[in-house]
Amino acid sequence: MSDAIPIGVFDSGVGGLSIARCLQRELPSESFLYFADQKYSPYGSKSASWLEARTELVAQFLLERGCKALVVACNTATVNSISALREKIELPIVGVEPAIKPAALHSKAGVVGVLATAQTLRADSFCTLLDKFSGPVKLLTQACPELVGLVESANLHSEETIDALRSYIEPLLDLGADHIVLGCTHFSFLRESIAQVIGGRALILDAGAPVAAELRRQLGKFDLLNASCAPGKISFYSSGATSLAAKNMSLLWGSPIELREAI
Ligand code: DGL
Repeated sequence: MSDAIPIGVFDSGVGGLSIARCLQRELPSESFLYFADQKYSPYGSKSASWLEARTELVAQFLLERGCKALVVACNTATVNSISALREKIELPIVGVEPAIKPAALHSKAGVVGVLATAQTLRADSFCTLLDKFSGPVKLLTQACPELVGLVESANLHSEETIDALRSYIEPLLDLGADHIVLGCTHFSFLRESIAQVIGGRALILDAGAPVAAELRRQLGKFDLLNASCAPGKISFYSSGATSLAAKNMSLLWGSPIELREAI
């Protein structure tokens, strides 16, 4: 295994693991340092100013561990704080953008549903993105406050989860949505249950692969790609590293992980 300089990846909790998986697939010889801010999860109920201050602290933590680039694996943190982070930190910083553009381009019905956190839906940069692609296409947004907690507890397929998903998604399908955009990284873990609720009536889009492709571009541009062919490593930190958090994170990651407490 390679001791390559790591790339820092963070989210409020486990959601960003769905992005980290795609990053590993795209860049197998890179090493990653994943930080879950579980003490303060969910981010979706926090204010823009709180998010800006907290994500700066998280970014500093990752920089102090020598990261060569950062991935904000969280839509809520991206739309609220990535511009401020980029002003302060001179490293490549890649964020997550919900797949509204491809959904709008490919929607035959001209109706797209977007699931996200309340704070993502409130953010100026998200509203700008919506304005850019609405018009010929109707973009319907839906805040989903229950879903982050369900994913944090690895409760992906229960009746409770299906009922919550149904309450958020059915109204969008009733209004004719033929694409459902997952605008929160936690929701990728619910893909199977979301597909069950949708029952073939719409396509599901998330942002993992485009984020990974963008990270590859940025690392290439700044000559930061690891030249070694040895497989990279990933280490995991959390601000709420309880044994239950480690257990749930291992379940979602698909193999046992050692979770270290930090900030
Ligand atoms: N996973 C996050 C996102 O993509 C944050 C969810 C939350 O903590 O509310 O928005």
